[in-house]
Amino acid sequence: MSRPATPKVPFGGDYNPEQWPEPVWDDDDRLFTLAGIDTVTLGVFDWALTQPAPDRYDFSLLDRIVDRAARGGRMICLATGTGAHPAWLARAHPEVTRVDFDGRRHRFGQRHNSCPNSPVFRRLSTELARRVAHRYADNPAVVAWHVGNEYGGACYCDLCTAGFRRWLRERYGTLDALNAAWYTTFWSHTFTDWDEIEAPSALTEHWRGPDHTAFQGITLDYRRFMSEAMLANFRDEKTAIRESSDLPVTTNFMGMYRPIDYHRWAADLDFASWDNYPPEGSSPAWMALSHDLIRGLKDGQPFWLMEQTPSMTACRDVNPLKPPGVMRLWSWQAVAHGADAVLFFQLRASRGACEKYHGAVIGHAGRADTRVFREVAELGAELRRLGDATLGARTPARVALLFDWDSWWALEMSDGPSRLVRYQQVVLAYYQALWDAGVDVDVLAVTADLSSYTVVVAPALHLVSGDLAERLAQVAQRGGSVLTTFLSGRVDVDGNAFLADVPGPLVPLTGVRVDEWDARGAEVVNPVRLGTGTEELEVDARLVFELIIPEGADVVGSYRADWYAGTPAVTRNTYGAGHGWYVGTALDQRGVSWVVRQVLDRHGLAGPYPDVPGLETAARVTGDGARLLFLLNHGTDAVEVTATVSGVDLLTGARVEVGDPLRLDPTAVLVLRDSGRVGTSS
Ligand code: GLA
Ligand code: ZN
Repeated sequence: MSRPATPKVPFGGDYNPEQWPEPVWDDDDRLFTLAGIDTVTLGVFDWALTQPAPDRYDFSLLDRIVDRAARGGRMICLATGTGAHPAWLARAHPEVTRVDFDGRRHRFGQRHNSCPNSPVFRRLSTELARRVAHRYADNPAVVAWHVGNEYGGACYCDLCTAGFRRWLRERYGTLDALNAAWYTTFWSHTFTDWDEIEAPSALTEHWRGPDHTAFQGITLDYRRFMSEAMLANFRDEKTAIRESSDLPVTTNFMGMYRPIDYHRWAADLDFASWDNYPPEGSSPAWMALSHDLIRGLKDGQPFWLMEQTPSMTACRDVNPLKPPGVMRLWSWQAVAHGADAVLFFQLRASRGACEKYHGAVIGHAGRADTRVFREVAELGAELRRLGDATLGARTPARVALLFDWDSWWALEMSDGPSRLVRYQQVVLAYYQALWDAGVDVDVLAVTADLSSYTVVVAPALHLVSGDLAERLAQVAQRGGSVLTTFLSGRVDVDGNAFLADVPGPLVPLTGVRVDEWDARGAEVVNPVRLGTGTEELEVDARLVFELIIPEGADVVGSYRADWYAGTPAVTRNTYGAGHGWYVGTALDQRGVSWVVRQVLDRHGLAGPYPDVPGLETAARVTGDGARLLFLLNHGTDAVEVTATVSGVDLLTGARVEVGDPLRLDPTAVLVLRDSGRVGTSS
């Protein structure tokens, strides 16, 4: 079972008509049709309605909602409704609520609030999923199942602690193995009984929050355990759904979301989906990276954009409005990166509670003559005209970027060398450089097969385990390039340092050794001179300065200041027929981009329009071998480029020949179907 079978890109989103009177549903229905909305996600937070009491299920309202959507010809993504538990459940079984990091037992309130290890939560959520699936499985309007909602957070209750101990027994078998992995000789921590083990929280190993832990090994394992505990909740529900339905099952992820290791979940989802709410001021590359990460979860299989706001969020302190054209631009960006659905949160605005000011396709006044509604309707019409032209198309990437939750966790919970190094920022700087160059990138787990990639970029690969180092070395061996950075190759799977030179298992590939490193405040700059002769460039470096000792590698850049002026900061090692690059410091974006471009240029991999400010390019290849080239102008100025392919713009039907001038106004989108490639596979 893979992604839902749909005749076109599903367009619509979360719809909660249970919140308003039924006569309004008629208006909704009419407006949906007007806006080209053909898909609704229903029942995400319906548990209190569908199971109003422990011994009573009542699907009458959901029946009417489903029936109305089906009669309107809409496709339904049907939720199991377990994103929030009902008040009666919390009252009858106080242990279904979570205990937080500070040890406080929560009482009923909010959502995403269930203890993943509570047997009663597991039993009742599974039963609800079973009943929902059984009841609606035969409704032809249902195309997919939506389990839970945005799994996340953590619980530190006694049930979770007991679950952690069971999980550890399974992982380690013996206390000797556990004590070795956790390095418990330090600070008198030797465990002599499994029941001595505590969940790492503010009451035990932590101070100043979840990233300050006395034992990285314990906290790393608790993060892995929590992520898997919630995965078990997802599996419970999916298994129950499978008793009556073979339709694809997903849950909505949140992109780069630290608490949950999506790579370890990926195999359990039939198709991936995610909610795109970029933090304010994010570059378009932040969204592109997130899309590529989600697409990478299922070996490049297209995903669903499950949620985005049509206009503005409500949960931030300040919630900016998407200017004209931006909602459309970002929707096409998602499609360009592999989305096979474009969905919103939400279709009609809530009247009360904390999301009443969250943007919606239909606002409180129910009007169709608003700017937001108009833009949604225009996109709806555009997607209808597009039909199935993009569905199932794959991204032809030869560049891989490794994204690793273990490294993210291990790096950010370490004491030393610097709390200022943030994993996402390091990764994003390298992704931004690739994005600026216009190359297609697969963002992959460290366990992914790397054999088809020419370039592999592995920023801040702090934790290295298994055969990863060998697989990276093979990429270089056969002529490719591998690029890694400071704070890579530092710890093993348990978070313990390698008893070897830094960067540990990456030493042979990189041809360097790092004995010392300096960390300084964000305001301290050490200039790095890159390249030689006419190619020379001086850039800023900050935060961490590793003093590289080349052991075979060529020096590409050196520090210019401080007592280590002249010491190598960037190196390139010839390894087999290829290269292992090492960047020992946080270069500014210009520096990162220069290094990345050296790597791409060696393989002729830059896209057709590198460095045109704001212009994004992305490719997809359809099942019949046609290449789709997406051009998106995120900038504030119009751009003019020359067509590098002949084909048809799928959005306007206009014919384009190689050499034709192409003008893209701000927010403009072109989707060129390259006629030259039709029928050939790539
Ligand atoms: C999340 C949730 C939705 C809604 C939106 C609002 O993505 O899944 O239920 O709260 O945020 O932005
Ligand atoms: Zn718990």
